[in-house]
Amino acid sequence: MAVDLAERFGTPLYVYSGDGLVAHYAAFEAAVSELDCVVHYAVKANSSLGVLGLLAQQGAGADIVSGGEMKRALIAGIAPDKIVFSGVGKTDDEIRAALQAGIAQINAESATELRHISQIAAETKQQAAVALRVNVNVDPGSHAKISTGQRSTKFGIPVANGEAAMLYRQLCSDPNLIPRGLAVHIGSQLRKLDPFELAYQELLVLADMLRAEGLDVPMLDLGGGLGVDYEEDKTPDFDAYGQMVTRIFASRDYKVGFEPGRSIAADNGVFLTRTLFVKKGENKRFIIVDGAMNDLIRPTLYEAFHRIEPVGQPNPVIGLADIVGPVCETGDYLGQGRAMPAIAEGEILAVLSAGAYGAVMMSNYNTRPEAAEVMIHDEAVHVLRPRRNVKDLLKLEHNPFS
Ligand code: LLP
Repeated sequence: MAVDLAERFGTPLYVYSGDGLVAHYAAFEAAVSELDCVVHYAVKANSSLGVLGLLAQQGAGADIVSGGEMKRALIAGIAPDKIVFSGVGKTDDEIRAALQAGIAQINAESATELRHISQIAAETKQQAAVALRVNVNVDPGSHAKISTGQRSTKFGIPVANGEAAMLYRQLCSDPNLIPRGLAVHIGSQLRKLDPFELAYQELLVLADMLRAEGLDVPMLDLGGGLGVDYEEDKTPDFDAYGQMVTRIFASRDYKVGFEPGRSIAADNGVFLTRTLFVKKGENKRFIIVDGAMNDLIRPTLYEAFHRIEPVGQPNPVIGLADIVGPVCETGDYLGQGRAMPAIAEGEILAVLSAGAYGAVMMSNYNTRPEAAEVMIHDEAVHVLRPRRNVKDLLKLEHNPFS
């Protein structure tokens, strides 16, 4: 199957499982079903219109972080009242577009942002529904580049110094704003539940305090972050996460929101790449493939591990190898020091768990056109994004000197 797809669509190629996406989304929903809640899929994890369209059919809302993602979500059929706008730096144009589209909620992350939202709401003669994303200073125990919970990061409004409470009071007294509650997201790829629990308890303390002052705190947005198992072929432990949040929130009178991204998408994508050459280095074997860091940047950017497997018959391991791309950087690798069988020129390798933060982070570095994206769903193969060629890439550029 993988070989057929590689032949048919070329490599490098992202292949998604539509059935898997549906199943993961359903498993997440089921795990939190005892709560009065909404699930906003984090569009940034995989924003392919086909992926969003399929999740929209399952009833998913969207967590977005840019005007571009908002457009994608709307085009894919996600209703504006199921869209939440997160992120530390929204432009006035993005805020205006969000208000115009009538999205459910903007999660504000600073006093300045709150002021901008209020002014734009006043100018456009409407009220903006706003929640405050708070910083509870909890270390999620994840990679530094995807940890957002500590006070040293740019994310959220500090709780400890009273700023979050002060701004919430201000939000409640602003006639241009409708208070929606509080939001927290301490990081991504969390492999333990304790940091979530710590953050949620901190959030509840603040929410209860604000309610005790008579303020309206309808909703608590609990972010995303549930990690996946990149080492083994196991689905995320949705149930354990669901039990934890249910224990904390079921007896409480707050509506809650979730923003899962990776846990829905990662397991449901593979990245197929073709072996160009096998090079015997002085002290190691390099399997040089046609997929590179511009197609899948996670290994080099976050020291992330993705399993890499030949797609054909299993053969005995002959030794370690680095699986590297053609880009001119030593950091251009998909895997290092992997026990691999003999690999022939032309052989297809599958990089697993590449459905989240894979295609969305592609670039054209080294003037490499992006990988194509296809989805298998209900036994049919759908092209979500055809491969572009170099001509497409150059089309938008001008050379004033030619
Ligand atoms: N909500 C907010 C506000 C977020 O910032 C994120 C992810 C999510 C939800 C979704 O988190 P998830 O369920 O996917 O963990 N590119 C990195 C991951 C960056 C995550 C950024 N924020 C990677 O490849 O590991």
